[in-house]
Amino acid sequence: MSDDAIKDALRMMPYGFYAITSKHGDEVNAMVANWVMQASFEPRQVAVGLAKSAFSYNLIKEGGVFGVNIFLKDDQDSLMPFTKGRAKNPDKMTDANYEAAPETGVPVLAGAAAVIECRVVGELDSGGDHVIIVGEAVAANVMKEGEPNDVLSLPHLGWSYAG
Ligand SMILES: Cc1cc2nc3c(=O)[nH]c(=O)nc-3n(C[C@H](O)[C@H](O)[C@H](O)COP(=O)(O)O)c2cc1C
Repeated sequence: MSDDAIKDALRMMPYGFYAITSKHGDEVNAMVANWVMQASFEPRQVAVGLAKSAFSYNLIKEGGVFGVNIFLKDDQDSLMPFTKGRAKNPDKMTDANYEAAPETGVPVLAGAAAVIECRVVGELDSGGDHVIIVGEAVAANVMKEGEPNDVLSLPHLGWSYAG
């Protein structure tokens, strides 16, 4: 416990841990993110809390598409190259193994268990350091089956991005 109860409470929320991929023209990117959730059943939409400072933010705005890459716990090493931003690791995509997703062309990262392809349908900028990007899920592919408990999460890693 710290002397900041809001921080302590926010850090109690368990999150998944994903790679958000993006594409605009010949430019592609991948970043790790945990503020990711389904946001509507009909149509099926996915919301991502995205840092305004992220390289991916501009790419998603320009390209209008993003992919949610989901990994199994056993494949956590596949996600690690994307924990650093483009500014610190300009070669992260040059060194990466990925394929273009069929519907949107966003990268499907090697080792991913599933990918959800999304087209951006909304953005909420409420004045914070992150925006909420909402995408409609237009396609998906499951490469490796798994239960939610098999999927990589921040509690599993003991990491936190909250507070
Ligand atoms: C554990 C962890 C979780 C993260 N979750 C998010 C997130 O949900 N949203 C976000 O915008 N950034 C998140 N980040 C930070 C981004 O990965 C970071 O801003 C990165 O530089 C963005 O990459 P880019 O600049 O190549 O787009 C997280 C980082 C870590 C290590």
